Amino acid sequence: MWLVSGKGGVGKTTIASALALREAERGGRVLLVSTDPTGALAQIFAGVGDEVRPAAPGLEAVELTRRAVLARWRERFGEEIYQVLAAVLPVERDILDYLEGVPGIEEEFMLSYLLDAADSGRYRRIIWDAAPTAATLSLLEAQALFYEHLTQAHRLYLKLRGYLQGADPSALIEGWRKLTERILEMLRGRTRAWVVAQPERLPVVQGLELMKSLRHFGIPLQRAVLNRVLPQGACPDCPPYAARAAAQQEWLERWRSASLAPVNLLLEMEGDPTDHQTLRALARLLTEEDHGDPHP
Ligand SMILES: Nc1ncnc2c1ncn2[C@@H]1O[C@H](COP(=O)(O)OP(=O)(O)O)[C@@H](O)[C@H]1O
Ligand SMILES: [Mg+2]
Repeated sequence: MWLVSGKGGVGKTTIASALALREAERGGRVLLVSTDPTGALAQIFAGVGDEVRPAAPGLEAVELTRRAVLARWRERFGEEIYQVLAAVLPVERDILDYLEGVPGIEEEFMLSYLLDAADSGRYRRIIWDAAPTAATLSLLEAQALFYEHLTQAHRLYLKLRGYLQGADPSALIEGWRKLTERILEMLRGRTRAWVVAQPERLPVVQGLELMKSLRHFGIPLQRAVLNRVLPQGACPDCPPYAARAAAQQEWLERWRSASLAPVNLLLEMEGDPTDHQTLRALARLLTEEDHGDPHP
């Protein structure tokens, strides 16, 4: 799986879509998943929605909205969770309405959705257009935290077992713990991250932080892409342009010197790059040195 992340507005969706189109062109089925709540996949793939749909030859796409994610979460885990809670606490089913708001639940389900897609064997490559920096990280942290909670919940259950009657939540808790473990394995063992920024202070600072956090979390980095770079000296007589191009230099240098992955530069284009031909060409620039990547 390829994870594409970076600050909002830097070009994640553009680059994730470009990579997805390019990978689909190389053969084998590809899935593009956006979990960015501000995502604009529809700008590039008409008709994309919260169910997986064909988006281009060899490419399927889905935009996972919060509502769709929570509905599926409830369908898949709701009853189990209720059973476990009801075994230890005097609760009604509406406890699930409350649980939907607990931090980490939505992220947990998004990741289990990605895991299902990865394990389905249906796709040669999955490309994940992830939410902006802070949300992506909390998503990963939530995953690790959830694991901690489950381990503790399990211990607590074992202590309480003597006093409980009826439902046996032990097997369910063990099932979730395994699920979480598999998600961590997918993120650490089968995922590579593309971090995107543009040559301005905040996107660069946040992008560099993101690379550190991803590395710390154990997700290998594929590329550090600096998008929307203005060519130097392209128009020395246009004052606003020349000033902006000059201002970018500092951040370009910083990106080059501090990135934890090989750097790619993409130039500012005229108009929004949304047509598929343009995007494929853009992705070719990013992947041309790749030969047989062992990380689907
Ligand atoms: N290299 C580029 N040149 C010109 N416009 C770009 C470039 N890359 C992205 N854009 C435009 O910038 C806007 C934000 O890009 P997007 O991919 O949606 O960012 P993100 O997903 O990070 O929020 C979009 O309108 C997109 O078409
Ligand atoms: Mg986006």
